[in-house]
Amino acid sequence: MQAGDRQLIRFGELGRLDAVDQVALHSIGKPSRGSVRDHQPRYVRGSIAASTEREGMGKTLITGGTVVTAADTYKADVLIDGEKVVAIGTDLKAAGAKRIDASRKYLIPGGIDVHTHMELPFGGTRASDDFETGTTAAAFGGTTTIVDFAVQGFGEPLEKARDAWMAKARGKAVVDYGLHMIVRDVSDTVLREMETMVRDGISSFKLFMAYPGVFMVDDGAIFKALVRSAEIGGLICMHAENGGVIDVLVKRALAAKHTQPKWHALTRPPEAEGEATGRALRLAEMAGGVPLYVVHLSAAQALEQVRLFRDRGLPAYAETCPQYLFLSYDSYEEPGFDGAKYVMSPPLRPKWHQDELWKGLQRNDLQVVSTDHCPFCMKEGFKGLPKQKELGKNDFSKIPNGAPGVETRLALLFDGGVAQGRITANRWVELCATTPAKIMGLFPRKGTIAVGSDADIVLWDPKATQTLSAKTHHMRVDYSPYEGRKVKGKATTVLSRGEVIVADGTFLGKKGRGKFLKRGGPLLQT
Ligand code: URP
Ligand code: ZN
Ligand code: ZN
Repeated sequence: MQAGDRQLIRFGELGRLDAVDQVALHSIGKPSRGSVRDHQPRYVRGSIAASTEREGMGKTLITGGTVVTAADTYKADVLIDGEKVVAIGTDLKAAGAKRIDASRKYLIPGGIDVHTHMELPFGGTRASDDFETGTTAAAFGGTTTIVDFAVQGFGEPLEKARDAWMAKARGKAVVDYGLHMIVRDVSDTVLREMETMVRDGISSFKLFMAYPGVFMVDDGAIFKALVRSAEIGGLICMHAENGGVIDVLVKRALAAKHTQPKWHALTRPPEAEGEATGRALRLAEMAGGVPLYVVHLSAAQALEQVRLFRDRGLPAYAETCPQYLFLSYDSYEEPGFDGAKYVMSPPLRPKWHQDELWKGLQRNDLQVVSTDHCPFCMKEGFKGLPKQKELGKNDFSKIPNGAPGVETRLALLFDGGVAQGRITANRWVELCATTPAKIMGLFPRKGTIAVGSDADIVLWDPKATQTLSAKTHHMRVDYSPYEGRKVKGKATTVLSRGEVIVADGTFLGKKGRGKFLKRGGPLLQT
């Protein structure tokens, strides 16, 4: 294979490269001495130089920082040419390059949030962030890639949902984005269309075991989709809550005139999540040991199931979200209607679950932290938005489900994880960027700092503190679930494909600069 061919390879197919080529792609090198021209590292050869000319972008040299990847922590300069990292080493020289001083900062790969819902239609309204406001907020928080969920309309082809979500994102997204597909009816036609989706880079499909009549599919449908995903090299993502039981509990609560937000949590017990998680994993096992990715895992009972299947050697994967690590059922007891801020599914759990989730992250039974970013405003009229959470003022079951988080994930995890000694900085990067990139078919283009990878790089100040607040965040929503929380760590400069899009609190990117990412199949190593 020629070096120039590398860019033609879908990154999800990296497993097919021979060992020498893999080493070349990941090499950490020092440019050779000599002329400026010679500073082009030899192993890069033609491909990256060619792409730089196409993009018309210059070189950027980030000096004096500490590179933190999932594997290593070391002091190094990073040279970017156009959109790619082209060299990592000490005392790099690059005449004419723009320079960024990263002394006393970590250099981490841009965060990858593989679970967002920009403009998700839900319960008669839609999530308040669109691809512009949501990805701008993501950038401020150090996240440079999102994977959002397109939603299939009942009886509609998957292509239609894909096109609709592409239209929402195109011209708006400021960071790169991929798409999953929410499948609502698993017909034979849809099973066929799943292959087209994978071919077009939408390589994962979310199914729901909850929300009967809206999203829920039955076990037979789940089984068929699992078998199909294995055939076509896709991945099933599961919302695992027992929707049938929850429906009965909701009806009983409402019949007893229990209408306050806290009843959302009281009618969605952790056992309903544990049961559905175990059932989903069992279905994946019956489908032939097919990989399954459980989304927004919140409860110890669900984690127990994931651990059980992983201990048996089955390919079970799961993500949790900051809200389940830092917030608890107690928030639903806030006065008046304030508990609605935390109405999301699965709901917040009693505090003791948090320790179990941290153990899950430490022991790798949980591999990813995403956000499930799905904001709805508390009050009608914020930035011209219609009634959202207030739709459920007199009936908790009508409160749109979801909460904001795309901007605060890295800081919360750094503060609660790294600064408080629960995880290492490497594990933080692994959970928030590297493993999401691997599982969602974006690695090594995204998710690490390596020669040949996209120059999505965040300068992270580990000493800075910030106070999370709706007054200062960039998400288009009128509250923060973490209002007033002081956290250590902050993204100070954010680069996306070599371009500085945030510097010292100022947005420098351009609406619509984000590119659609054609994802490969999952790279399942953990
Ligand atoms: O409450 C939530 N999680 N809203 C978004 C939809 C989903 O289930 O992920
Ligand atoms: Zn869900
Ligand atoms: Zn979600």
